[in-house]
Amino acid sequence: MSTILVTGGAGYIGSHTCIELLNQGYDIIVIDNLYNANAKSLEIVQEITGKQLTFYQSDIRNEQHLQHIFEKHEISAVIHFAGLKAVGESSEIPLEYYDNNINGTLTLLRVMKKNNCQNIIFSSSATVYGNPKTVPIKEDFPLSVTNPYGRTKLMLEDIFKDLYASDTTWNIVLLRYFNPIGAHSSGDLGEYPAGIPNNLLPYVSQVAVGKLQFVGVFGDDYDTTDGTGVRDYIHVVDLAKGHVAALQKLEPKSGLNIYNLGTGKGYSVLEIIRTMSKVVGKDIPYQILPRRKGDIATCYADSSKAKKELNWQAQYDIIRMCEDSWRWQSKHPNGFSD
Ligand code: NAD
Ligand code: UD1
Repeated sequence: MSTILVTGGAGYIGSHTCIELLNQGYDIIVIDNLYNANAKSLEIVQEITGKQLTFYQSDIRNEQHLQHIFEKHEISAVIHFAGLKAVGESSEIPLEYYDNNINGTLTLLRVMKKNNCQNIIFSSSATVYGNPKTVPIKEDFPLSVTNPYGRTKLMLEDIFKDLYASDTTWNIVLLRYFNPIGAHSSGDLGEYPAGIPNNLLPYVSQVAVGKLQFVGVFGDDYDTTDGTGVRDYIHVVDLAKGHVAALQKLEPKSGLNIYNLGTGKGYSVLEIIRTMSKVVGKDIPYQILPRRKGDIATCYADSSKAKKELNWQAQYDIIRMCEDSWRWQSKHPNGFSD
């Protein structure tokens, strides 16, 4: 079985993907600078799977070290999660975002090419669709972005397309994730955002556990069923499995392919709060606040391309997503430091 390099593998989606890869028999090398992760996540991955992985605490912009890793291990493909991801922060420190996301990826691609490894799966985002004219969103919809984070994703997609046009021996899969939530069913691995969460599910969970007082609902005057924003929430384990399916796609010569990874169903903010209240068994207080700048009304995926070509489909429903988020949050209210 081949060896996969997972950049950013100690992070939220990366660590869950490591579990699925190990379970499928892949050998894994993880590189992560631990900027937004705790190495404990990888210990838990190894405990859950009963399998070992190799970890390098290092930055993907360190070309020499990356070269050393490629010389030491025979890497057949890379799953590239490493990067910065906070939309609001990206407008405050754009240079950090461009440096990390763009330079990091360019360095990685240079080293891969030098070492004859030309198979890569890249974490893109539904953010590249901007404000879609219609839903569900298909891969060939027009692309546009409104903040530096989104711009790095779109620029990187273009860079991958240019790279492939220049050299068709590359195999590239661009995965556009919708809204990943949930946690591993053990309740021992999940997302622990630093500071006050920006995303809805971590915020709702922290209100439920008593760390925050109420959920601020950003707008109830959108053109949706109840006026609050609608999103396609996808269980992180389903998303992780999507990477294994994409890896199998890379194995024969496949070229450059783009897939939406979502469930195809949209839930409003109030529906999420209600579902979480049921799971937790108590009311979760909320207040309607003004709209958040840059938010859109509705976003959900048409994932039929991934179903047809990757034989992948999300399995977990919204109740299971909330149950797993809650198990993680209630078992580890302070994340990996518990
Ligand atoms: P995360 O922050 O938990 O994981 C990213 C990991 O990369 C972290 O462990 C961090 O320490 C590491 N990292 C950052 N810069 C690095 C560098 N220069 N060198 C080495 N390691 C570095 O985020 P996540 O939610 O797991 O997201 C993974 C990827 O998916 C990111 O590229 C993100 O932009 C993308 N994505 C995430 C979401 C989401 O909602 N979580 C949605 C769409 C796309
Ligand atoms: C956000 C990012 C997106 C990124 C995604 C995953 C923005 C504008 N977009 O998407 O680029 O890919 O995270 O990291 O930040 N909400 C509340 N109260 C809260 C938090 C959120 O009402 O405290 C609402 C939002 O208005 C939205 C929904 O909940 O309608 C989901 O928000 P969030 O979890 O932040 O994800 P997105 O905005 O979809």
